[in-house]
Amino acid sequence: MRSPKPRALSARTCSLQRFAEPADSASTLVGLDRAHLWRPYTARQSQLEVEPLVVTRAEGPWLWDSAGQRYFDGFGSWWVSNLGHQHPRLVAALRAQSERLCHVSLAGMINEATVDFAARLAALCPGDLRRVFFSDNGSTAVEVALKMAHQYFAQNGQPGRQRVLALSGAFHGDTVGAMSAGDIPEFHRIFADMLFAVWRPRDDDFDAAAEALSTHLEQQGDRVAAVIVEPMVQGAGGMRFWSAAHLTRLARATQQAGALLIVDEVFTGYGRTGPMWASSHAKILPDILCTAKGLSGGLLPFAATVASERVFEGFSGDATRALMHGHTFCGNPLGAAVARAVLDVYEDEQVLAEAVPKAARIADTFAGFGANAHLSHPRALGMVAAVDIKGPAGYHAPLGQRVHALARRKGLWLRPLGNTVYITPPLNTPDPDLDFLLATLEETLDEITRGLS
Ligand SMILES: Cc1ncc(COP(=O)(O)O)c(C=O)c1O
Repeated sequence: MRSPKPRALSARTCSLQRFAEPADSASTLVGLDRAHLWRPYTARQSQLEVEPLVVTRAEGPWLWDSAGQRYFDGFGSWWVSNLGHQHPRLVAALRAQSERLCHVSLAGMINEATVDFAARLAALCPGDLRRVFFSDNGSTAVEVALKMAHQYFAQNGQPGRQRVLALSGAFHGDTVGAMSAGDIPEFHRIFADMLFAVWRPRDDDFDAAAEALSTHLEQQGDRVAAVIVEPMVQGAGGMRFWSAAHLTRLARATQQAGALLIVDEVFTGYGRTGPMWASSHAKILPDILCTAKGLSGGLLPFAATVASERVFEGFSGDATRALMHGHTFCGNPLGAAVARAVLDVYEDEQVLAEAVPKAARIADTFAGFGANAHLSHPRALGMVAAVDIKGPAGYHAPLGQRVHALARRKGLWLRPLGNTVYITPPLNTPDPDLDFLLATLEETLDEITRGLS
């Protein structure tokens, strides 16, 4: 059989094709970026004025730009690169899976990589968290958790339980439900009219917040569906650390009130704070756990919401009782195959144990920042550490930008949150690379703060 004749190209498609030819130089890419991309959290003016880093390749903790200059990826490409870039075993798993089955839905069908990974993830989760609902990113993982909690009570005789409780300073993602649970003015204020009401203590201090939440749960717990928290560390809120004791207290109050505890481990999971899950610092048993980011080793958009059997049982019955949520690509086999390889690497390379001495070195360096009069609240937990530069607070506070610019010139990519400077390097950062990261960070902070009055 003869193959069909190629369709004639119109002048219009020809010109589109010309523009779509691979752009080969950095300046062409920057031009195309300025003309066509809409980058996240980036005002138009800053996209036009600030030179982006044109990344051409990556390996381990390093990124290379088009001029061959390398940069330590100090924020782990938005906290996902727990095993470094291009880990060969993850890339191999992706390649192998892509040759067999790239995608198939979970609509009445299953596939080996997805169910096998679900079982392995369930085995790693605390308590009876055994039911894995897949989605694509951290925000959707949270969205799913909130909807699970709402529908669970709505269809099991407690429709009055609709309230969600959260902490002030929280960040749970950028979709509407996740934003409702969040509380960072720069991210959420402009959307306030779109969001549903969430009860949260006004107090920023975690002592007072835990007290207020517990009191609310004692007094009005029968109206509460769920309490959602970022265990141990509020990430985007400024790397704010809180204690296992407060988390334990909150978990107890939530359980006593008959509400569900949702732990958002999107950032803190996969050993970022030491143990696999930050919630295990407090030895609590959550009802729902959200995970993304490190779950797929930073290779693919992949996320999971893991619920307890008790929650899943609330969805038995006829078709009208199914969780009415799903995403086209949920449970994507490529993501599952990579996520499974991530777990193999954690096991075989003893990633959590090997990170302990690295975390101790990071903690030591940050403790040393306490001697600098311009720095405050040095803090570290596992492989996340932060310090604040004294001065105006808030996400748009300017000093962090100066730190970013200077560190960039020294080959270190940082993305401070306002004046909070933090690092989230790969858990398996080789020691000489860790030396570079810590020395360059020290030098940068030193130079920036020396210039402050
Ligand atoms: C705790 C937490 N939850 C949810 C999210 C949202 O994840 P994503 O950006 O993948 O939607 C983030 C992102 O930083 C996060 O830190």
